Amino acid sequence: MKYDFESILDRAGKDAIAVDLPTNQAGAFKDVKRKEGFDVIPMWVADMNFPACPTIAESIIERVNHPTYGYFEPREEYFDSIIQWHKTRNHVEGLEKKHIGYENGVLGGVISALNVLASKGDNVLLNSPTYIGFTHALENNGYNMVLSPLKLDENNVWRMDYEDMEKKIVENHIHVAIICSPYNPCGRVWEKEELEKAVALFEKHNVWIVSDEIWSDIILDGNKHIPTQSVNAYARTHTAAMYAPSKTFNLAGLIGSYHIIYNDWLRERVEKKSSLSHYNSMNVLSMYALIGAYKKEGYEWADELCETITGNVNYAYDFIKENFKGVSLAKPQGTYMLFIDCEKYCKENNVDIETILHKGWEYGVYWQDGRPFHGPYSIRINLALPLSRVKEAFDRLKTYVF
Ligand SMILES: Cc1ncc(COP(=O)(O)O)c(C=O)c1O
Repeated sequence: MKYDFESILDRAGKDAIAVDLPTNQAGAFKDVKRKEGFDVIPMWVADMNFPACPTIAESIIERVNHPTYGYFEPREEYFDSIIQWHKTRNHVEGLEKKHIGYENGVLGGVISALNVLASKGDNVLLNSPTYIGFTHALENNGYNMVLSPLKLDENNVWRMDYEDMEKKIVENHIHVAIICSPYNPCGRVWEKEELEKAVALFEKHNVWIVSDEIWSDIILDGNKHIPTQSVNAYARTHTAAMYAPSKTFNLAGLIGSYHIIYNDWLRERVEKKSSLSHYNSMNVLSMYALIGAYKKEGYEWADELCETITGNVNYAYDFIKENFKGVSLAKPQGTYMLFIDCEKYCKENNVDIETILHKGWEYGVYWQDGRPFHGPYSIRINLALPLSRVKEAFDRLKTYVF
C-alpha cells in the first residue's frame, strides 16, 4: 500500500465523537463503565480511523497560507474535480457545472428535495432496515416514512421486495421514494437490473426519486456502483442525487456535500429550498478539501481504502461465521458497515440484545445498537479501522461477549 491504513490513531481529545461521546450522543452508552485496561475501539458512528489522503491537508494548508478568507464563489476547479471524479469512477457522461449544487450535508439535501417533492405529512417510501439519519431527518421535518423491508434471498443477499414496494406506493399514495445506494446499513451495492426494476415501478406510479449515493465510492471486491440517474431517461430526469467526499475521505467534520440534478425545474426548486435557511453556504477550506481529495492521489487513496475495507470485511465475516454461533449476517458489497443479526443467538442463549451491546461497550468495543435502524436484534459494526484493531475487537467479542 502506498498510503497508511495501518497506523493506530489516538483520536481522544481530537474532536471525535467516535471516541469522546458527547452526553447527547452517549444515550445507551452512558450507564456503561468501561473495564480497566480496555481502550476504546470506535466501531459505531460512520467515520473512519485512518489518516486522510495527504493531498487534502496540502490543499487546505496552501489556501490557509494566503491570509484572507473573505466572501467567495466556488472555483471552476471545484466543479471540474467533481465532473472528472464521476466520469472516471462511474462513467458518468453529460455532467455539467450547472447540474451540481452545494449542500452542507447530504441529509439536508435529502430534506430540501423532499420539501420540493412532497408536502409535510406526506408518505415517503424507504426500505428497511433504515439508516437512522433518514429516520431523524424525516421525522424532524414532518414526513411520514413508509418502510418496505428488504428481504434476504436464498443466497443470503438483501433484495428489494418490488411487490411490497408497489403495494405500499399505491396504498399510501406515495410520490417520492428515497433510494440509498450503496445501502446503509446492509451494505448492498445495487445491480443495474435491481435499480431498473425499482425505477420502472417509480415511473409507473409517478414517483420521484431522492438517491442518496454518499457511499458510492466505497465499493468492495468486484462490485460496481451504478448511479441511479444512469439507469434510464426517467431516472435521469426524476432523481435528485446526493454525493459528498465526506464518507469516502473522512471529511464530515469539514462539512460539504453536493447534489447532482439534471432536470432544470427540479434543480432550481431544490436550490431554492436549500437556500431558504441562509445557512447553506460553502466553506472555503472545505472547497479546498474536496479539490485535494479529488486529485490523482485521491483516486489511488480511495482504491486502497476499498482494498483495505474488503480485507477487513472478509476477516470479520469469516470470524463471525467461525466463532459466533447463532449470529447471522450478509456479506457487505459496499460501505464499511456490518449489520449483524443476533436473534438466534439471543434466543438460544436466553440473553437480550441490550446485554450483548453493553458487554461489548464494557470491553471497549463501541459498536452501535441496530434497533433504531429497525433491526430488532441487530448491531451495526463500523470496520473502517486498521485490521489490527478489527482483530483486537473481534478477539474481545469472542472472549467476553459471545
Ligand atoms: C446513507 C447516508 N446518508 C447521509 C449520511 C450523512 O451525511 P451528512 O453528514 O452529509 O448529512 C450518512 C452518514 O453516515 C449516511 O450513511
